Amino acid sequence: MRTTTLGADGPGVGVIGLGCMGMTWAYDPQNRDDDTSVAVIHRALDIGVNLLDTSDVYGPFTNEELVGRALAGRRDEAVLATKVGLYIDDSGTMRRNGRPEHIRAGIDASLRRLGTDHVDLYQLHRVDPEVPIEESWGAMAEAVAAGKVRAIGLSDVSVVEIKRAMAVHPVASVQSELSLWDKAALSEVVPFCAENGIAFLPFSPLGRGFLTGRFGSVDDLPEDDWRRGNPRFQDEALAANQVITDRVKAIAERREVPPAQIALAWLCAQGDHVIPIPGTKTPRYLESNAAAGDVRLSPEELAELDGVPEARGERY
Ligand SMILES: NC(=O)c1ccc[n+]([C@@H]2O[C@H](COP(=O)([O-])OP(=O)(O)OC[C@H]3O[C@@H](n4cnc5c(N)ncnc54)[C@H](OP(=O)(O)O)[C@@H]3O)[C@@H](O)[C@H]2O)c1
Repeated sequence: MRTTTLGADGPGVGVIGLGCMGMTWAYDPQNRDDDTSVAVIHRALDIGVNLLDTSDVYGPFTNEELVGRALAGRRDEAVLATKVGLYIDDSGTMRRNGRPEHIRAGIDASLRRLGTDHVDLYQLHRVDPEVPIEESWGAMAEAVAAGKVRAIGLSDVSVVEIKRAMAVHPVASVQSELSLWDKAALSEVVPFCAENGIAFLPFSPLGRGFLTGRFGSVDDLPEDDWRRGNPRFQDEALAANQVITDRVKAIAERREVPPAQIALAWLCAQGDHVIPIPGTKTPRYLESNAAAGDVRLSPEELAELDGVPEARGERY
């Protein structure tokens, strides 16, 4: 696995990370198996996919517990990233909470579930519109000072929000959606991160699986899968967006690699600071996605992919 650093001064990480969310949440509930997921995390560490991404809200809580179990005895091999700032209320609705007291309690609870005395990257999952970002970020910085966290990152933010946070404490990373069906971050946030030594972690880098060519209709999605209610996975949007996957597949066929590797290689080509975190609970996908770090796209292939049309359908 090729390596890079997580931000200008951060630890060394493989150029492809691992998103753990789908191991216990949101996608494909009928086909999850904790033992297989733990094996996927172990294999990831074996092959240099050492950046592991989770959150307290995934499950909620079960994802951190699973990652904690997987890391027992192997904690030092991982660059462990988790998040705070979202929660599920009593009606099952996801809400934001960026209050300092929530963040202070959140890190202690995350460390307990993860079975560790520190995380390498603690990310503010969303900015809470009710709380000035400076206050949330100040509480995140306290966790650094207390030695509970090595560095702090943001998620789904604008350049203005990054600058406001930077005035309080350095921003190590920004995690926002970026893929061939969501290129909005490329205009301002990704270049700003490059100029300021901030790692950019594209979430949902495979378009929640769409770019792999697996999902042509909402009926192709597993039962009780969160994506069944997502606007971009409705049949009309899927049909309109097929042109994007077709372009990925055409290049994949010419290069004789799976489509996911092309989608990930395009992301890696956006800069050394761009570290995609594809999500999988499937051993063969993990191996295949890791190999994407060695796929170099030609300028012509990159231009072909840069030119895909904007996706139809809201992302949430
Ligand atoms: N900060 C945020 O707000 C936010 C939001 C969403 C996600 N995330 C993070 O980003 C990570 C990745 O995003 P994501 O899981 O939403 O989407 P993704 O990585 O774009 O796609 C995951 C889907 O693609 C499938 N897949 C993975 N590799 C494949 C391959 N080589 N061939 C075919 N199918 C493949 C997975 O299948 P299987 O599950 O069957 O293996 C899963 O259904 C998450 O795990 C989470 O850590 C963060």
